[in-house]
Amino acid sequence: MALAIAFLCLSLISITTHASDSCSLLSSSDDSDQLAIVHIHGKCSPFTSPYQGSWFDTVIGMAKKDPDRVMALSMLARRQKEKQIPIIPSTTPNVFMGNYVVRAKVGTPGQVMFMVMDTSREATIVPCSGCTGCLSSKIFAPKMSSTFRSLNCEAYQCDWPFAYGEKPCHGSGPKYPCVFNRTYGEDSSFSATLAQDSLTLGKDIFPNYTFGCINDVSGKNIPPQGLLGLSFDAMSLLSQLRQQLSMFSYCLPSFKSNSSTGSLMLGSESPDDEPQTIPTTPLHHITPRISLLYLNLTGISVGNVLVPVSPAFDMKTGAGTILDTNTVITRFVQPIYKAVRDAFRKQIGKSVSSFSIFDTCFTSDDKSLTPVVTLHFSGLDFILPRENTLINSSNGSLACLAMAAAPSHNENSNLNVIASYQQQNFRIYVFQGDLSVGIVRELCN
Ligand SMILES: *[C@@H]1O[C@H](CO)[C@@H](O)[C@H](O)[C@H]1NC(C)=O
Ligand SMILES: *[C@@H]1O[C@H](CO)[C@@H](O)[C@H](O)[C@H]1NC(C)=O
Ligand SMILES: *[C@@H]1O[C@H](CO)[C@@H](O)[C@H](O)[C@H]1NC(C)=O
Ligand SMILES: *[C@@H]1O[C@H](CO)[C@@H](O)[C@H](O)[C@H]1NC(C)=O
Ligand SMILES: *[C@@H]1O[C@H](CO)[C@@H](O)[C@H](O)[C@H]1NC(C)=O
Ligand SMILES: *[C@@H]1O[C@H](CO)[C@@H](O)[C@H](O)[C@H]1NC(C)=O
Repeated sequence: MALAIAFLCLSLISITTHASDSCSLLSSSDDSDQLAIVHIHGKCSPFTSPYQGSWFDTVIGMAKKDPDRVMALSMLARRQKEKQIPIIPSTTPNVFMGNYVVRAKVGTPGQVMFMVMDTSREATIVPCSGCTGCLSSKIFAPKMSSTFRSLNCEAYQCDWPFAYGEKPCHGSGPKYPCVFNRTYGEDSSFSATLAQDSLTLGKDIFPNYTFGCINDVSGKNIPPQGLLGLSFDAMSLLSQLRQQLSMFSYCLPSFKSNSSTGSLMLGSESPDDEPQTIPTTPLHHITPRISLLYLNLTGISVGNVLVPVSPAFDMKTGAGTILDTNTVITRFVQPIYKAVRDAFRKQIGKSVSSFSIFDTCFTSDDKSLTPVVTLHFSGLDFILPRENTLINSSNGSLACLAMAAAPSHNENSNLNVIASYQQQNFRIYVFQGDLSVGIVRELCN
């Protein structure tokens, strides 16, 4: 199969721009090497935005869901067994979880589904005909696909969703479909039957892709047209396609505009194949049961002040630093956030105020000197440009440090989450072969 070969930037400082009519990219991406990634509540999204007001109000509305997301991720990190995750009623508006959507096709002929990409979940799931509680009118119809089959408990793939707990079904044969349940966000769950069908991403068709066909949903967090699981675990994209793919990369669209477009690319490169090497940092699969993208964050520089982060991980509790695309604003555990914020405040030398979820806002003008924030990963410095560090109030009179403390209303707060606002306009490579992540500046739209 001809696979999209990853497009690699020449060096850390080379910047590539792809001028394009972003919204048409999403509708005609069938034969493209690049799969468009769009803001889920933006202009190019097929979903109606639940937010009123300016684009920045929308971004802030989305960021208000972050505490729920971070709590849910912390609970994933701590899990012994998935079923032990308590479901806590959400305090945020009924808006489904997710920041970015990609266009995929499921089945033969392909049925178009706009799936939320999630780098912290392993399973790909799709709402299927007959689903109760599914929010979308657009649902995958297995009967219309000539290549669909559902999997029984005896299929070896049926072990995959139960890596965190005991497989509840011991029988075999068509009487025992492989059904698994998951929580999503803090207040939602679904039940799905494991199935296989063709998955089309851009111009690549992956036959017999294993995913969950959702039968039943409770809560409002489950993305209406499904989820593309990009983390690690047997069910994830890279694991299932290990014969064909060794890496994927994504560039998240700019937050400046609601019509910005990024891209997801699938490839078979390794960082060493490249004459110009991509700076990488090891990806840690810290225990077999945790599939989050853990990186070794060793410190954070704020201008001339270094805030150390140590130890990198705690195997027992799942504490550490992860990359996540469905959290908007980077969250650090309380003591680290406080040190970062204090160093930042000290160096801007202006009086600060709070605005919405931000606690370090100041009157902005173009000449404001703000310290550069650098995330030091083992082997890689992720230097944040100003647009990835600050967020403006909608009327432009205030600029705020676009970071916050992880929620601390219980002991589950143990994760630093490097979120999408900080990742915008960088290409993030995930290499499966040597388990590493590369980060290169790229203006992706
Ligand atoms: C996108 O932004 C434009 C211009 O700022 C605005 O008119 C439009 O309503 C926005 N659309 C959405 C879905 O937010
Ligand atoms: C999954 O959830 C359904 C209800 O949605 C329930 O009937 C079933 O027992 C659950 N299965 C497992 C394995 O927890
Ligand atoms: C997909 O699975 C079916 C049923 O097991 C099998 O007959 C077919 O050869 C598989 N196709 C590919 C391309 O692996
Ligand atoms: C914030 O406003 C400043 C001017 O006050 C502008 O230079 C900057 O581009 C704006 N940043 C964003 C992310 O809109
Ligand atoms: C994280 O990086 C630091 C500095 O490079 C190193 O000393 C430490 O051993 C690393 N931790 C892990 C768990 O790899
Ligand atoms: C801009 O917005 C901020 C925060 O909402 C508010 O405090 C300020 O008064 C506004 N300024 C103007 C000129 O509207």
